[in-house]
Amino acid sequence: MKTYNIAAIPGDGIGTEVIAAGLEILEGLARRLGGFNFDVTHYPWDSEYYLKHGHYIPDGGLAEISKADAIFFGAVGSLKVADHISLWGLRLPICQGFDQYANVRPARVLPGVKSPLSNGQAIDWVIVRENSEGEYSGSGGRVHQGLPIEVATEVSTFTRVGVERIHRFAFELARSRPAKHLTLVTKSNAQRHGMVLWDEVFAEVARDYPDVRTNRELVDAVTTTMVLKPEKLDVIVATNLHADILSDLAAALSGSLGIAPTANLNPDRSFPSMFEPIHGSAFDITGKGIANPIATFWTAAMMLEHLGERKAGEHLMRAIEEVTASGLHTPDLGGTATTRQVTDAVLEVISR
Ligand SMILES: NC(=O)c1ccc[n+]([C@@H]2O[C@H](COP(=O)([O-])OP(=O)(O)OC[C@H]3O[C@@H](n4cnc5c(N)ncnc54)[C@H](O)[C@@H]3O)[C@@H](O)[C@H]2O)c1
Repeated sequence: MKTYNIAAIPGDGIGTEVIAAGLEILEGLARRLGGFNFDVTHYPWDSEYYLKHGHYIPDGGLAEISKADAIFFGAVGSLKVADHISLWGLRLPICQGFDQYANVRPARVLPGVKSPLSNGQAIDWVIVRENSEGEYSGSGGRVHQGLPIEVATEVSTFTRVGVERIHRFAFELARSRPAKHLTLVTKSNAQRHGMVLWDEVFAEVARDYPDVRTNRELVDAVTTTMVLKPEKLDVIVATNLHADILSDLAAALSGSLGIAPTANLNPDRSFPSMFEPIHGSAFDITGKGIANPIATFWTAAMMLEHLGERKAGEHLMRAIEEVTASGLHTPDLGGTATTRQVTDAVLEVISR
């Protein structure tokens, strides 16, 4: 029996609701399939904890979760704490501290889900987001704070190593998919330093992958391709900020932010990887019991695959798809189902 140590960080808002549901699903799968189980450690690092202690992650906290096999994360963000404090206090220290440089965001229209596009069924994308530097490097500062002459700089940092490794990751992923197609998204017409480095390194890495078809789109143009010609895209590689924005668009085009999963991968496995739904803490629906747990279930399937439990991950995806196909949908997908009902339905399919 293999036991996986999971660090669960539900965080704020609906993060607590969807992670609780996700853990039930993981336990249900372990019961049904056998051969593995989970030892889950819960970390109470939310915004209330921050307000009480002055930090999200206590001293030694990162070292402790670095021993986990994977991190299962909900969301962070509260009306009581500025967003840049919560993001930089909890999520980014984990992503950057554990060098989870590849953020993988699949998007497709699950059975029974309605896309706002008439040809939404053509969506079958994986967005690969550089997750360790770029626009979210944290470099910059504020000078003359509070004075009329105040200046703020937000410096995007692109390193050759950082750019090359994300391109290689994206090429490997594209190579593993039937379409074997990779689209590079930058803005190298206007941003003539970092984005040009992205383009140049992409061309260099592409030589090692002659079997992968490539093309290049500017970030503004690719939004129109996503909406008007979704079949033209397969794997997309883009910077931290660009891919962040594109993946919310991808989620909306796939039916809802409530179904979109993401994996923050440390591909060399020197640290644990982190799995989370794309969405945030969703103040407007917190506590109502109607958060869509599908994004969290899908990210749990990605976590299982990463842990080497591919069959369990596939079993979970099939169960998710059977439930979405049945029309049992939460309000974000136009239905009236609760988080509990969707969770029970997935558990029931799993247990069969
Ligand atoms: N990874 C993260 O932790 C993360 C990501 C995004 C936003 N945030 C934080 O979350 C807070 C709210 O941010 P926001 O409003 O921009 O984004 P959000 O994702 O929380 O919500 C956007 C909209 O999508 C809906 N939605 C999101 N997830 C849903 C789900 N599972 N089921 C049904 N509906 C869902 C919400 O109800 C809301 O209307 C902010 O503090 C923000 O900083 C955190």
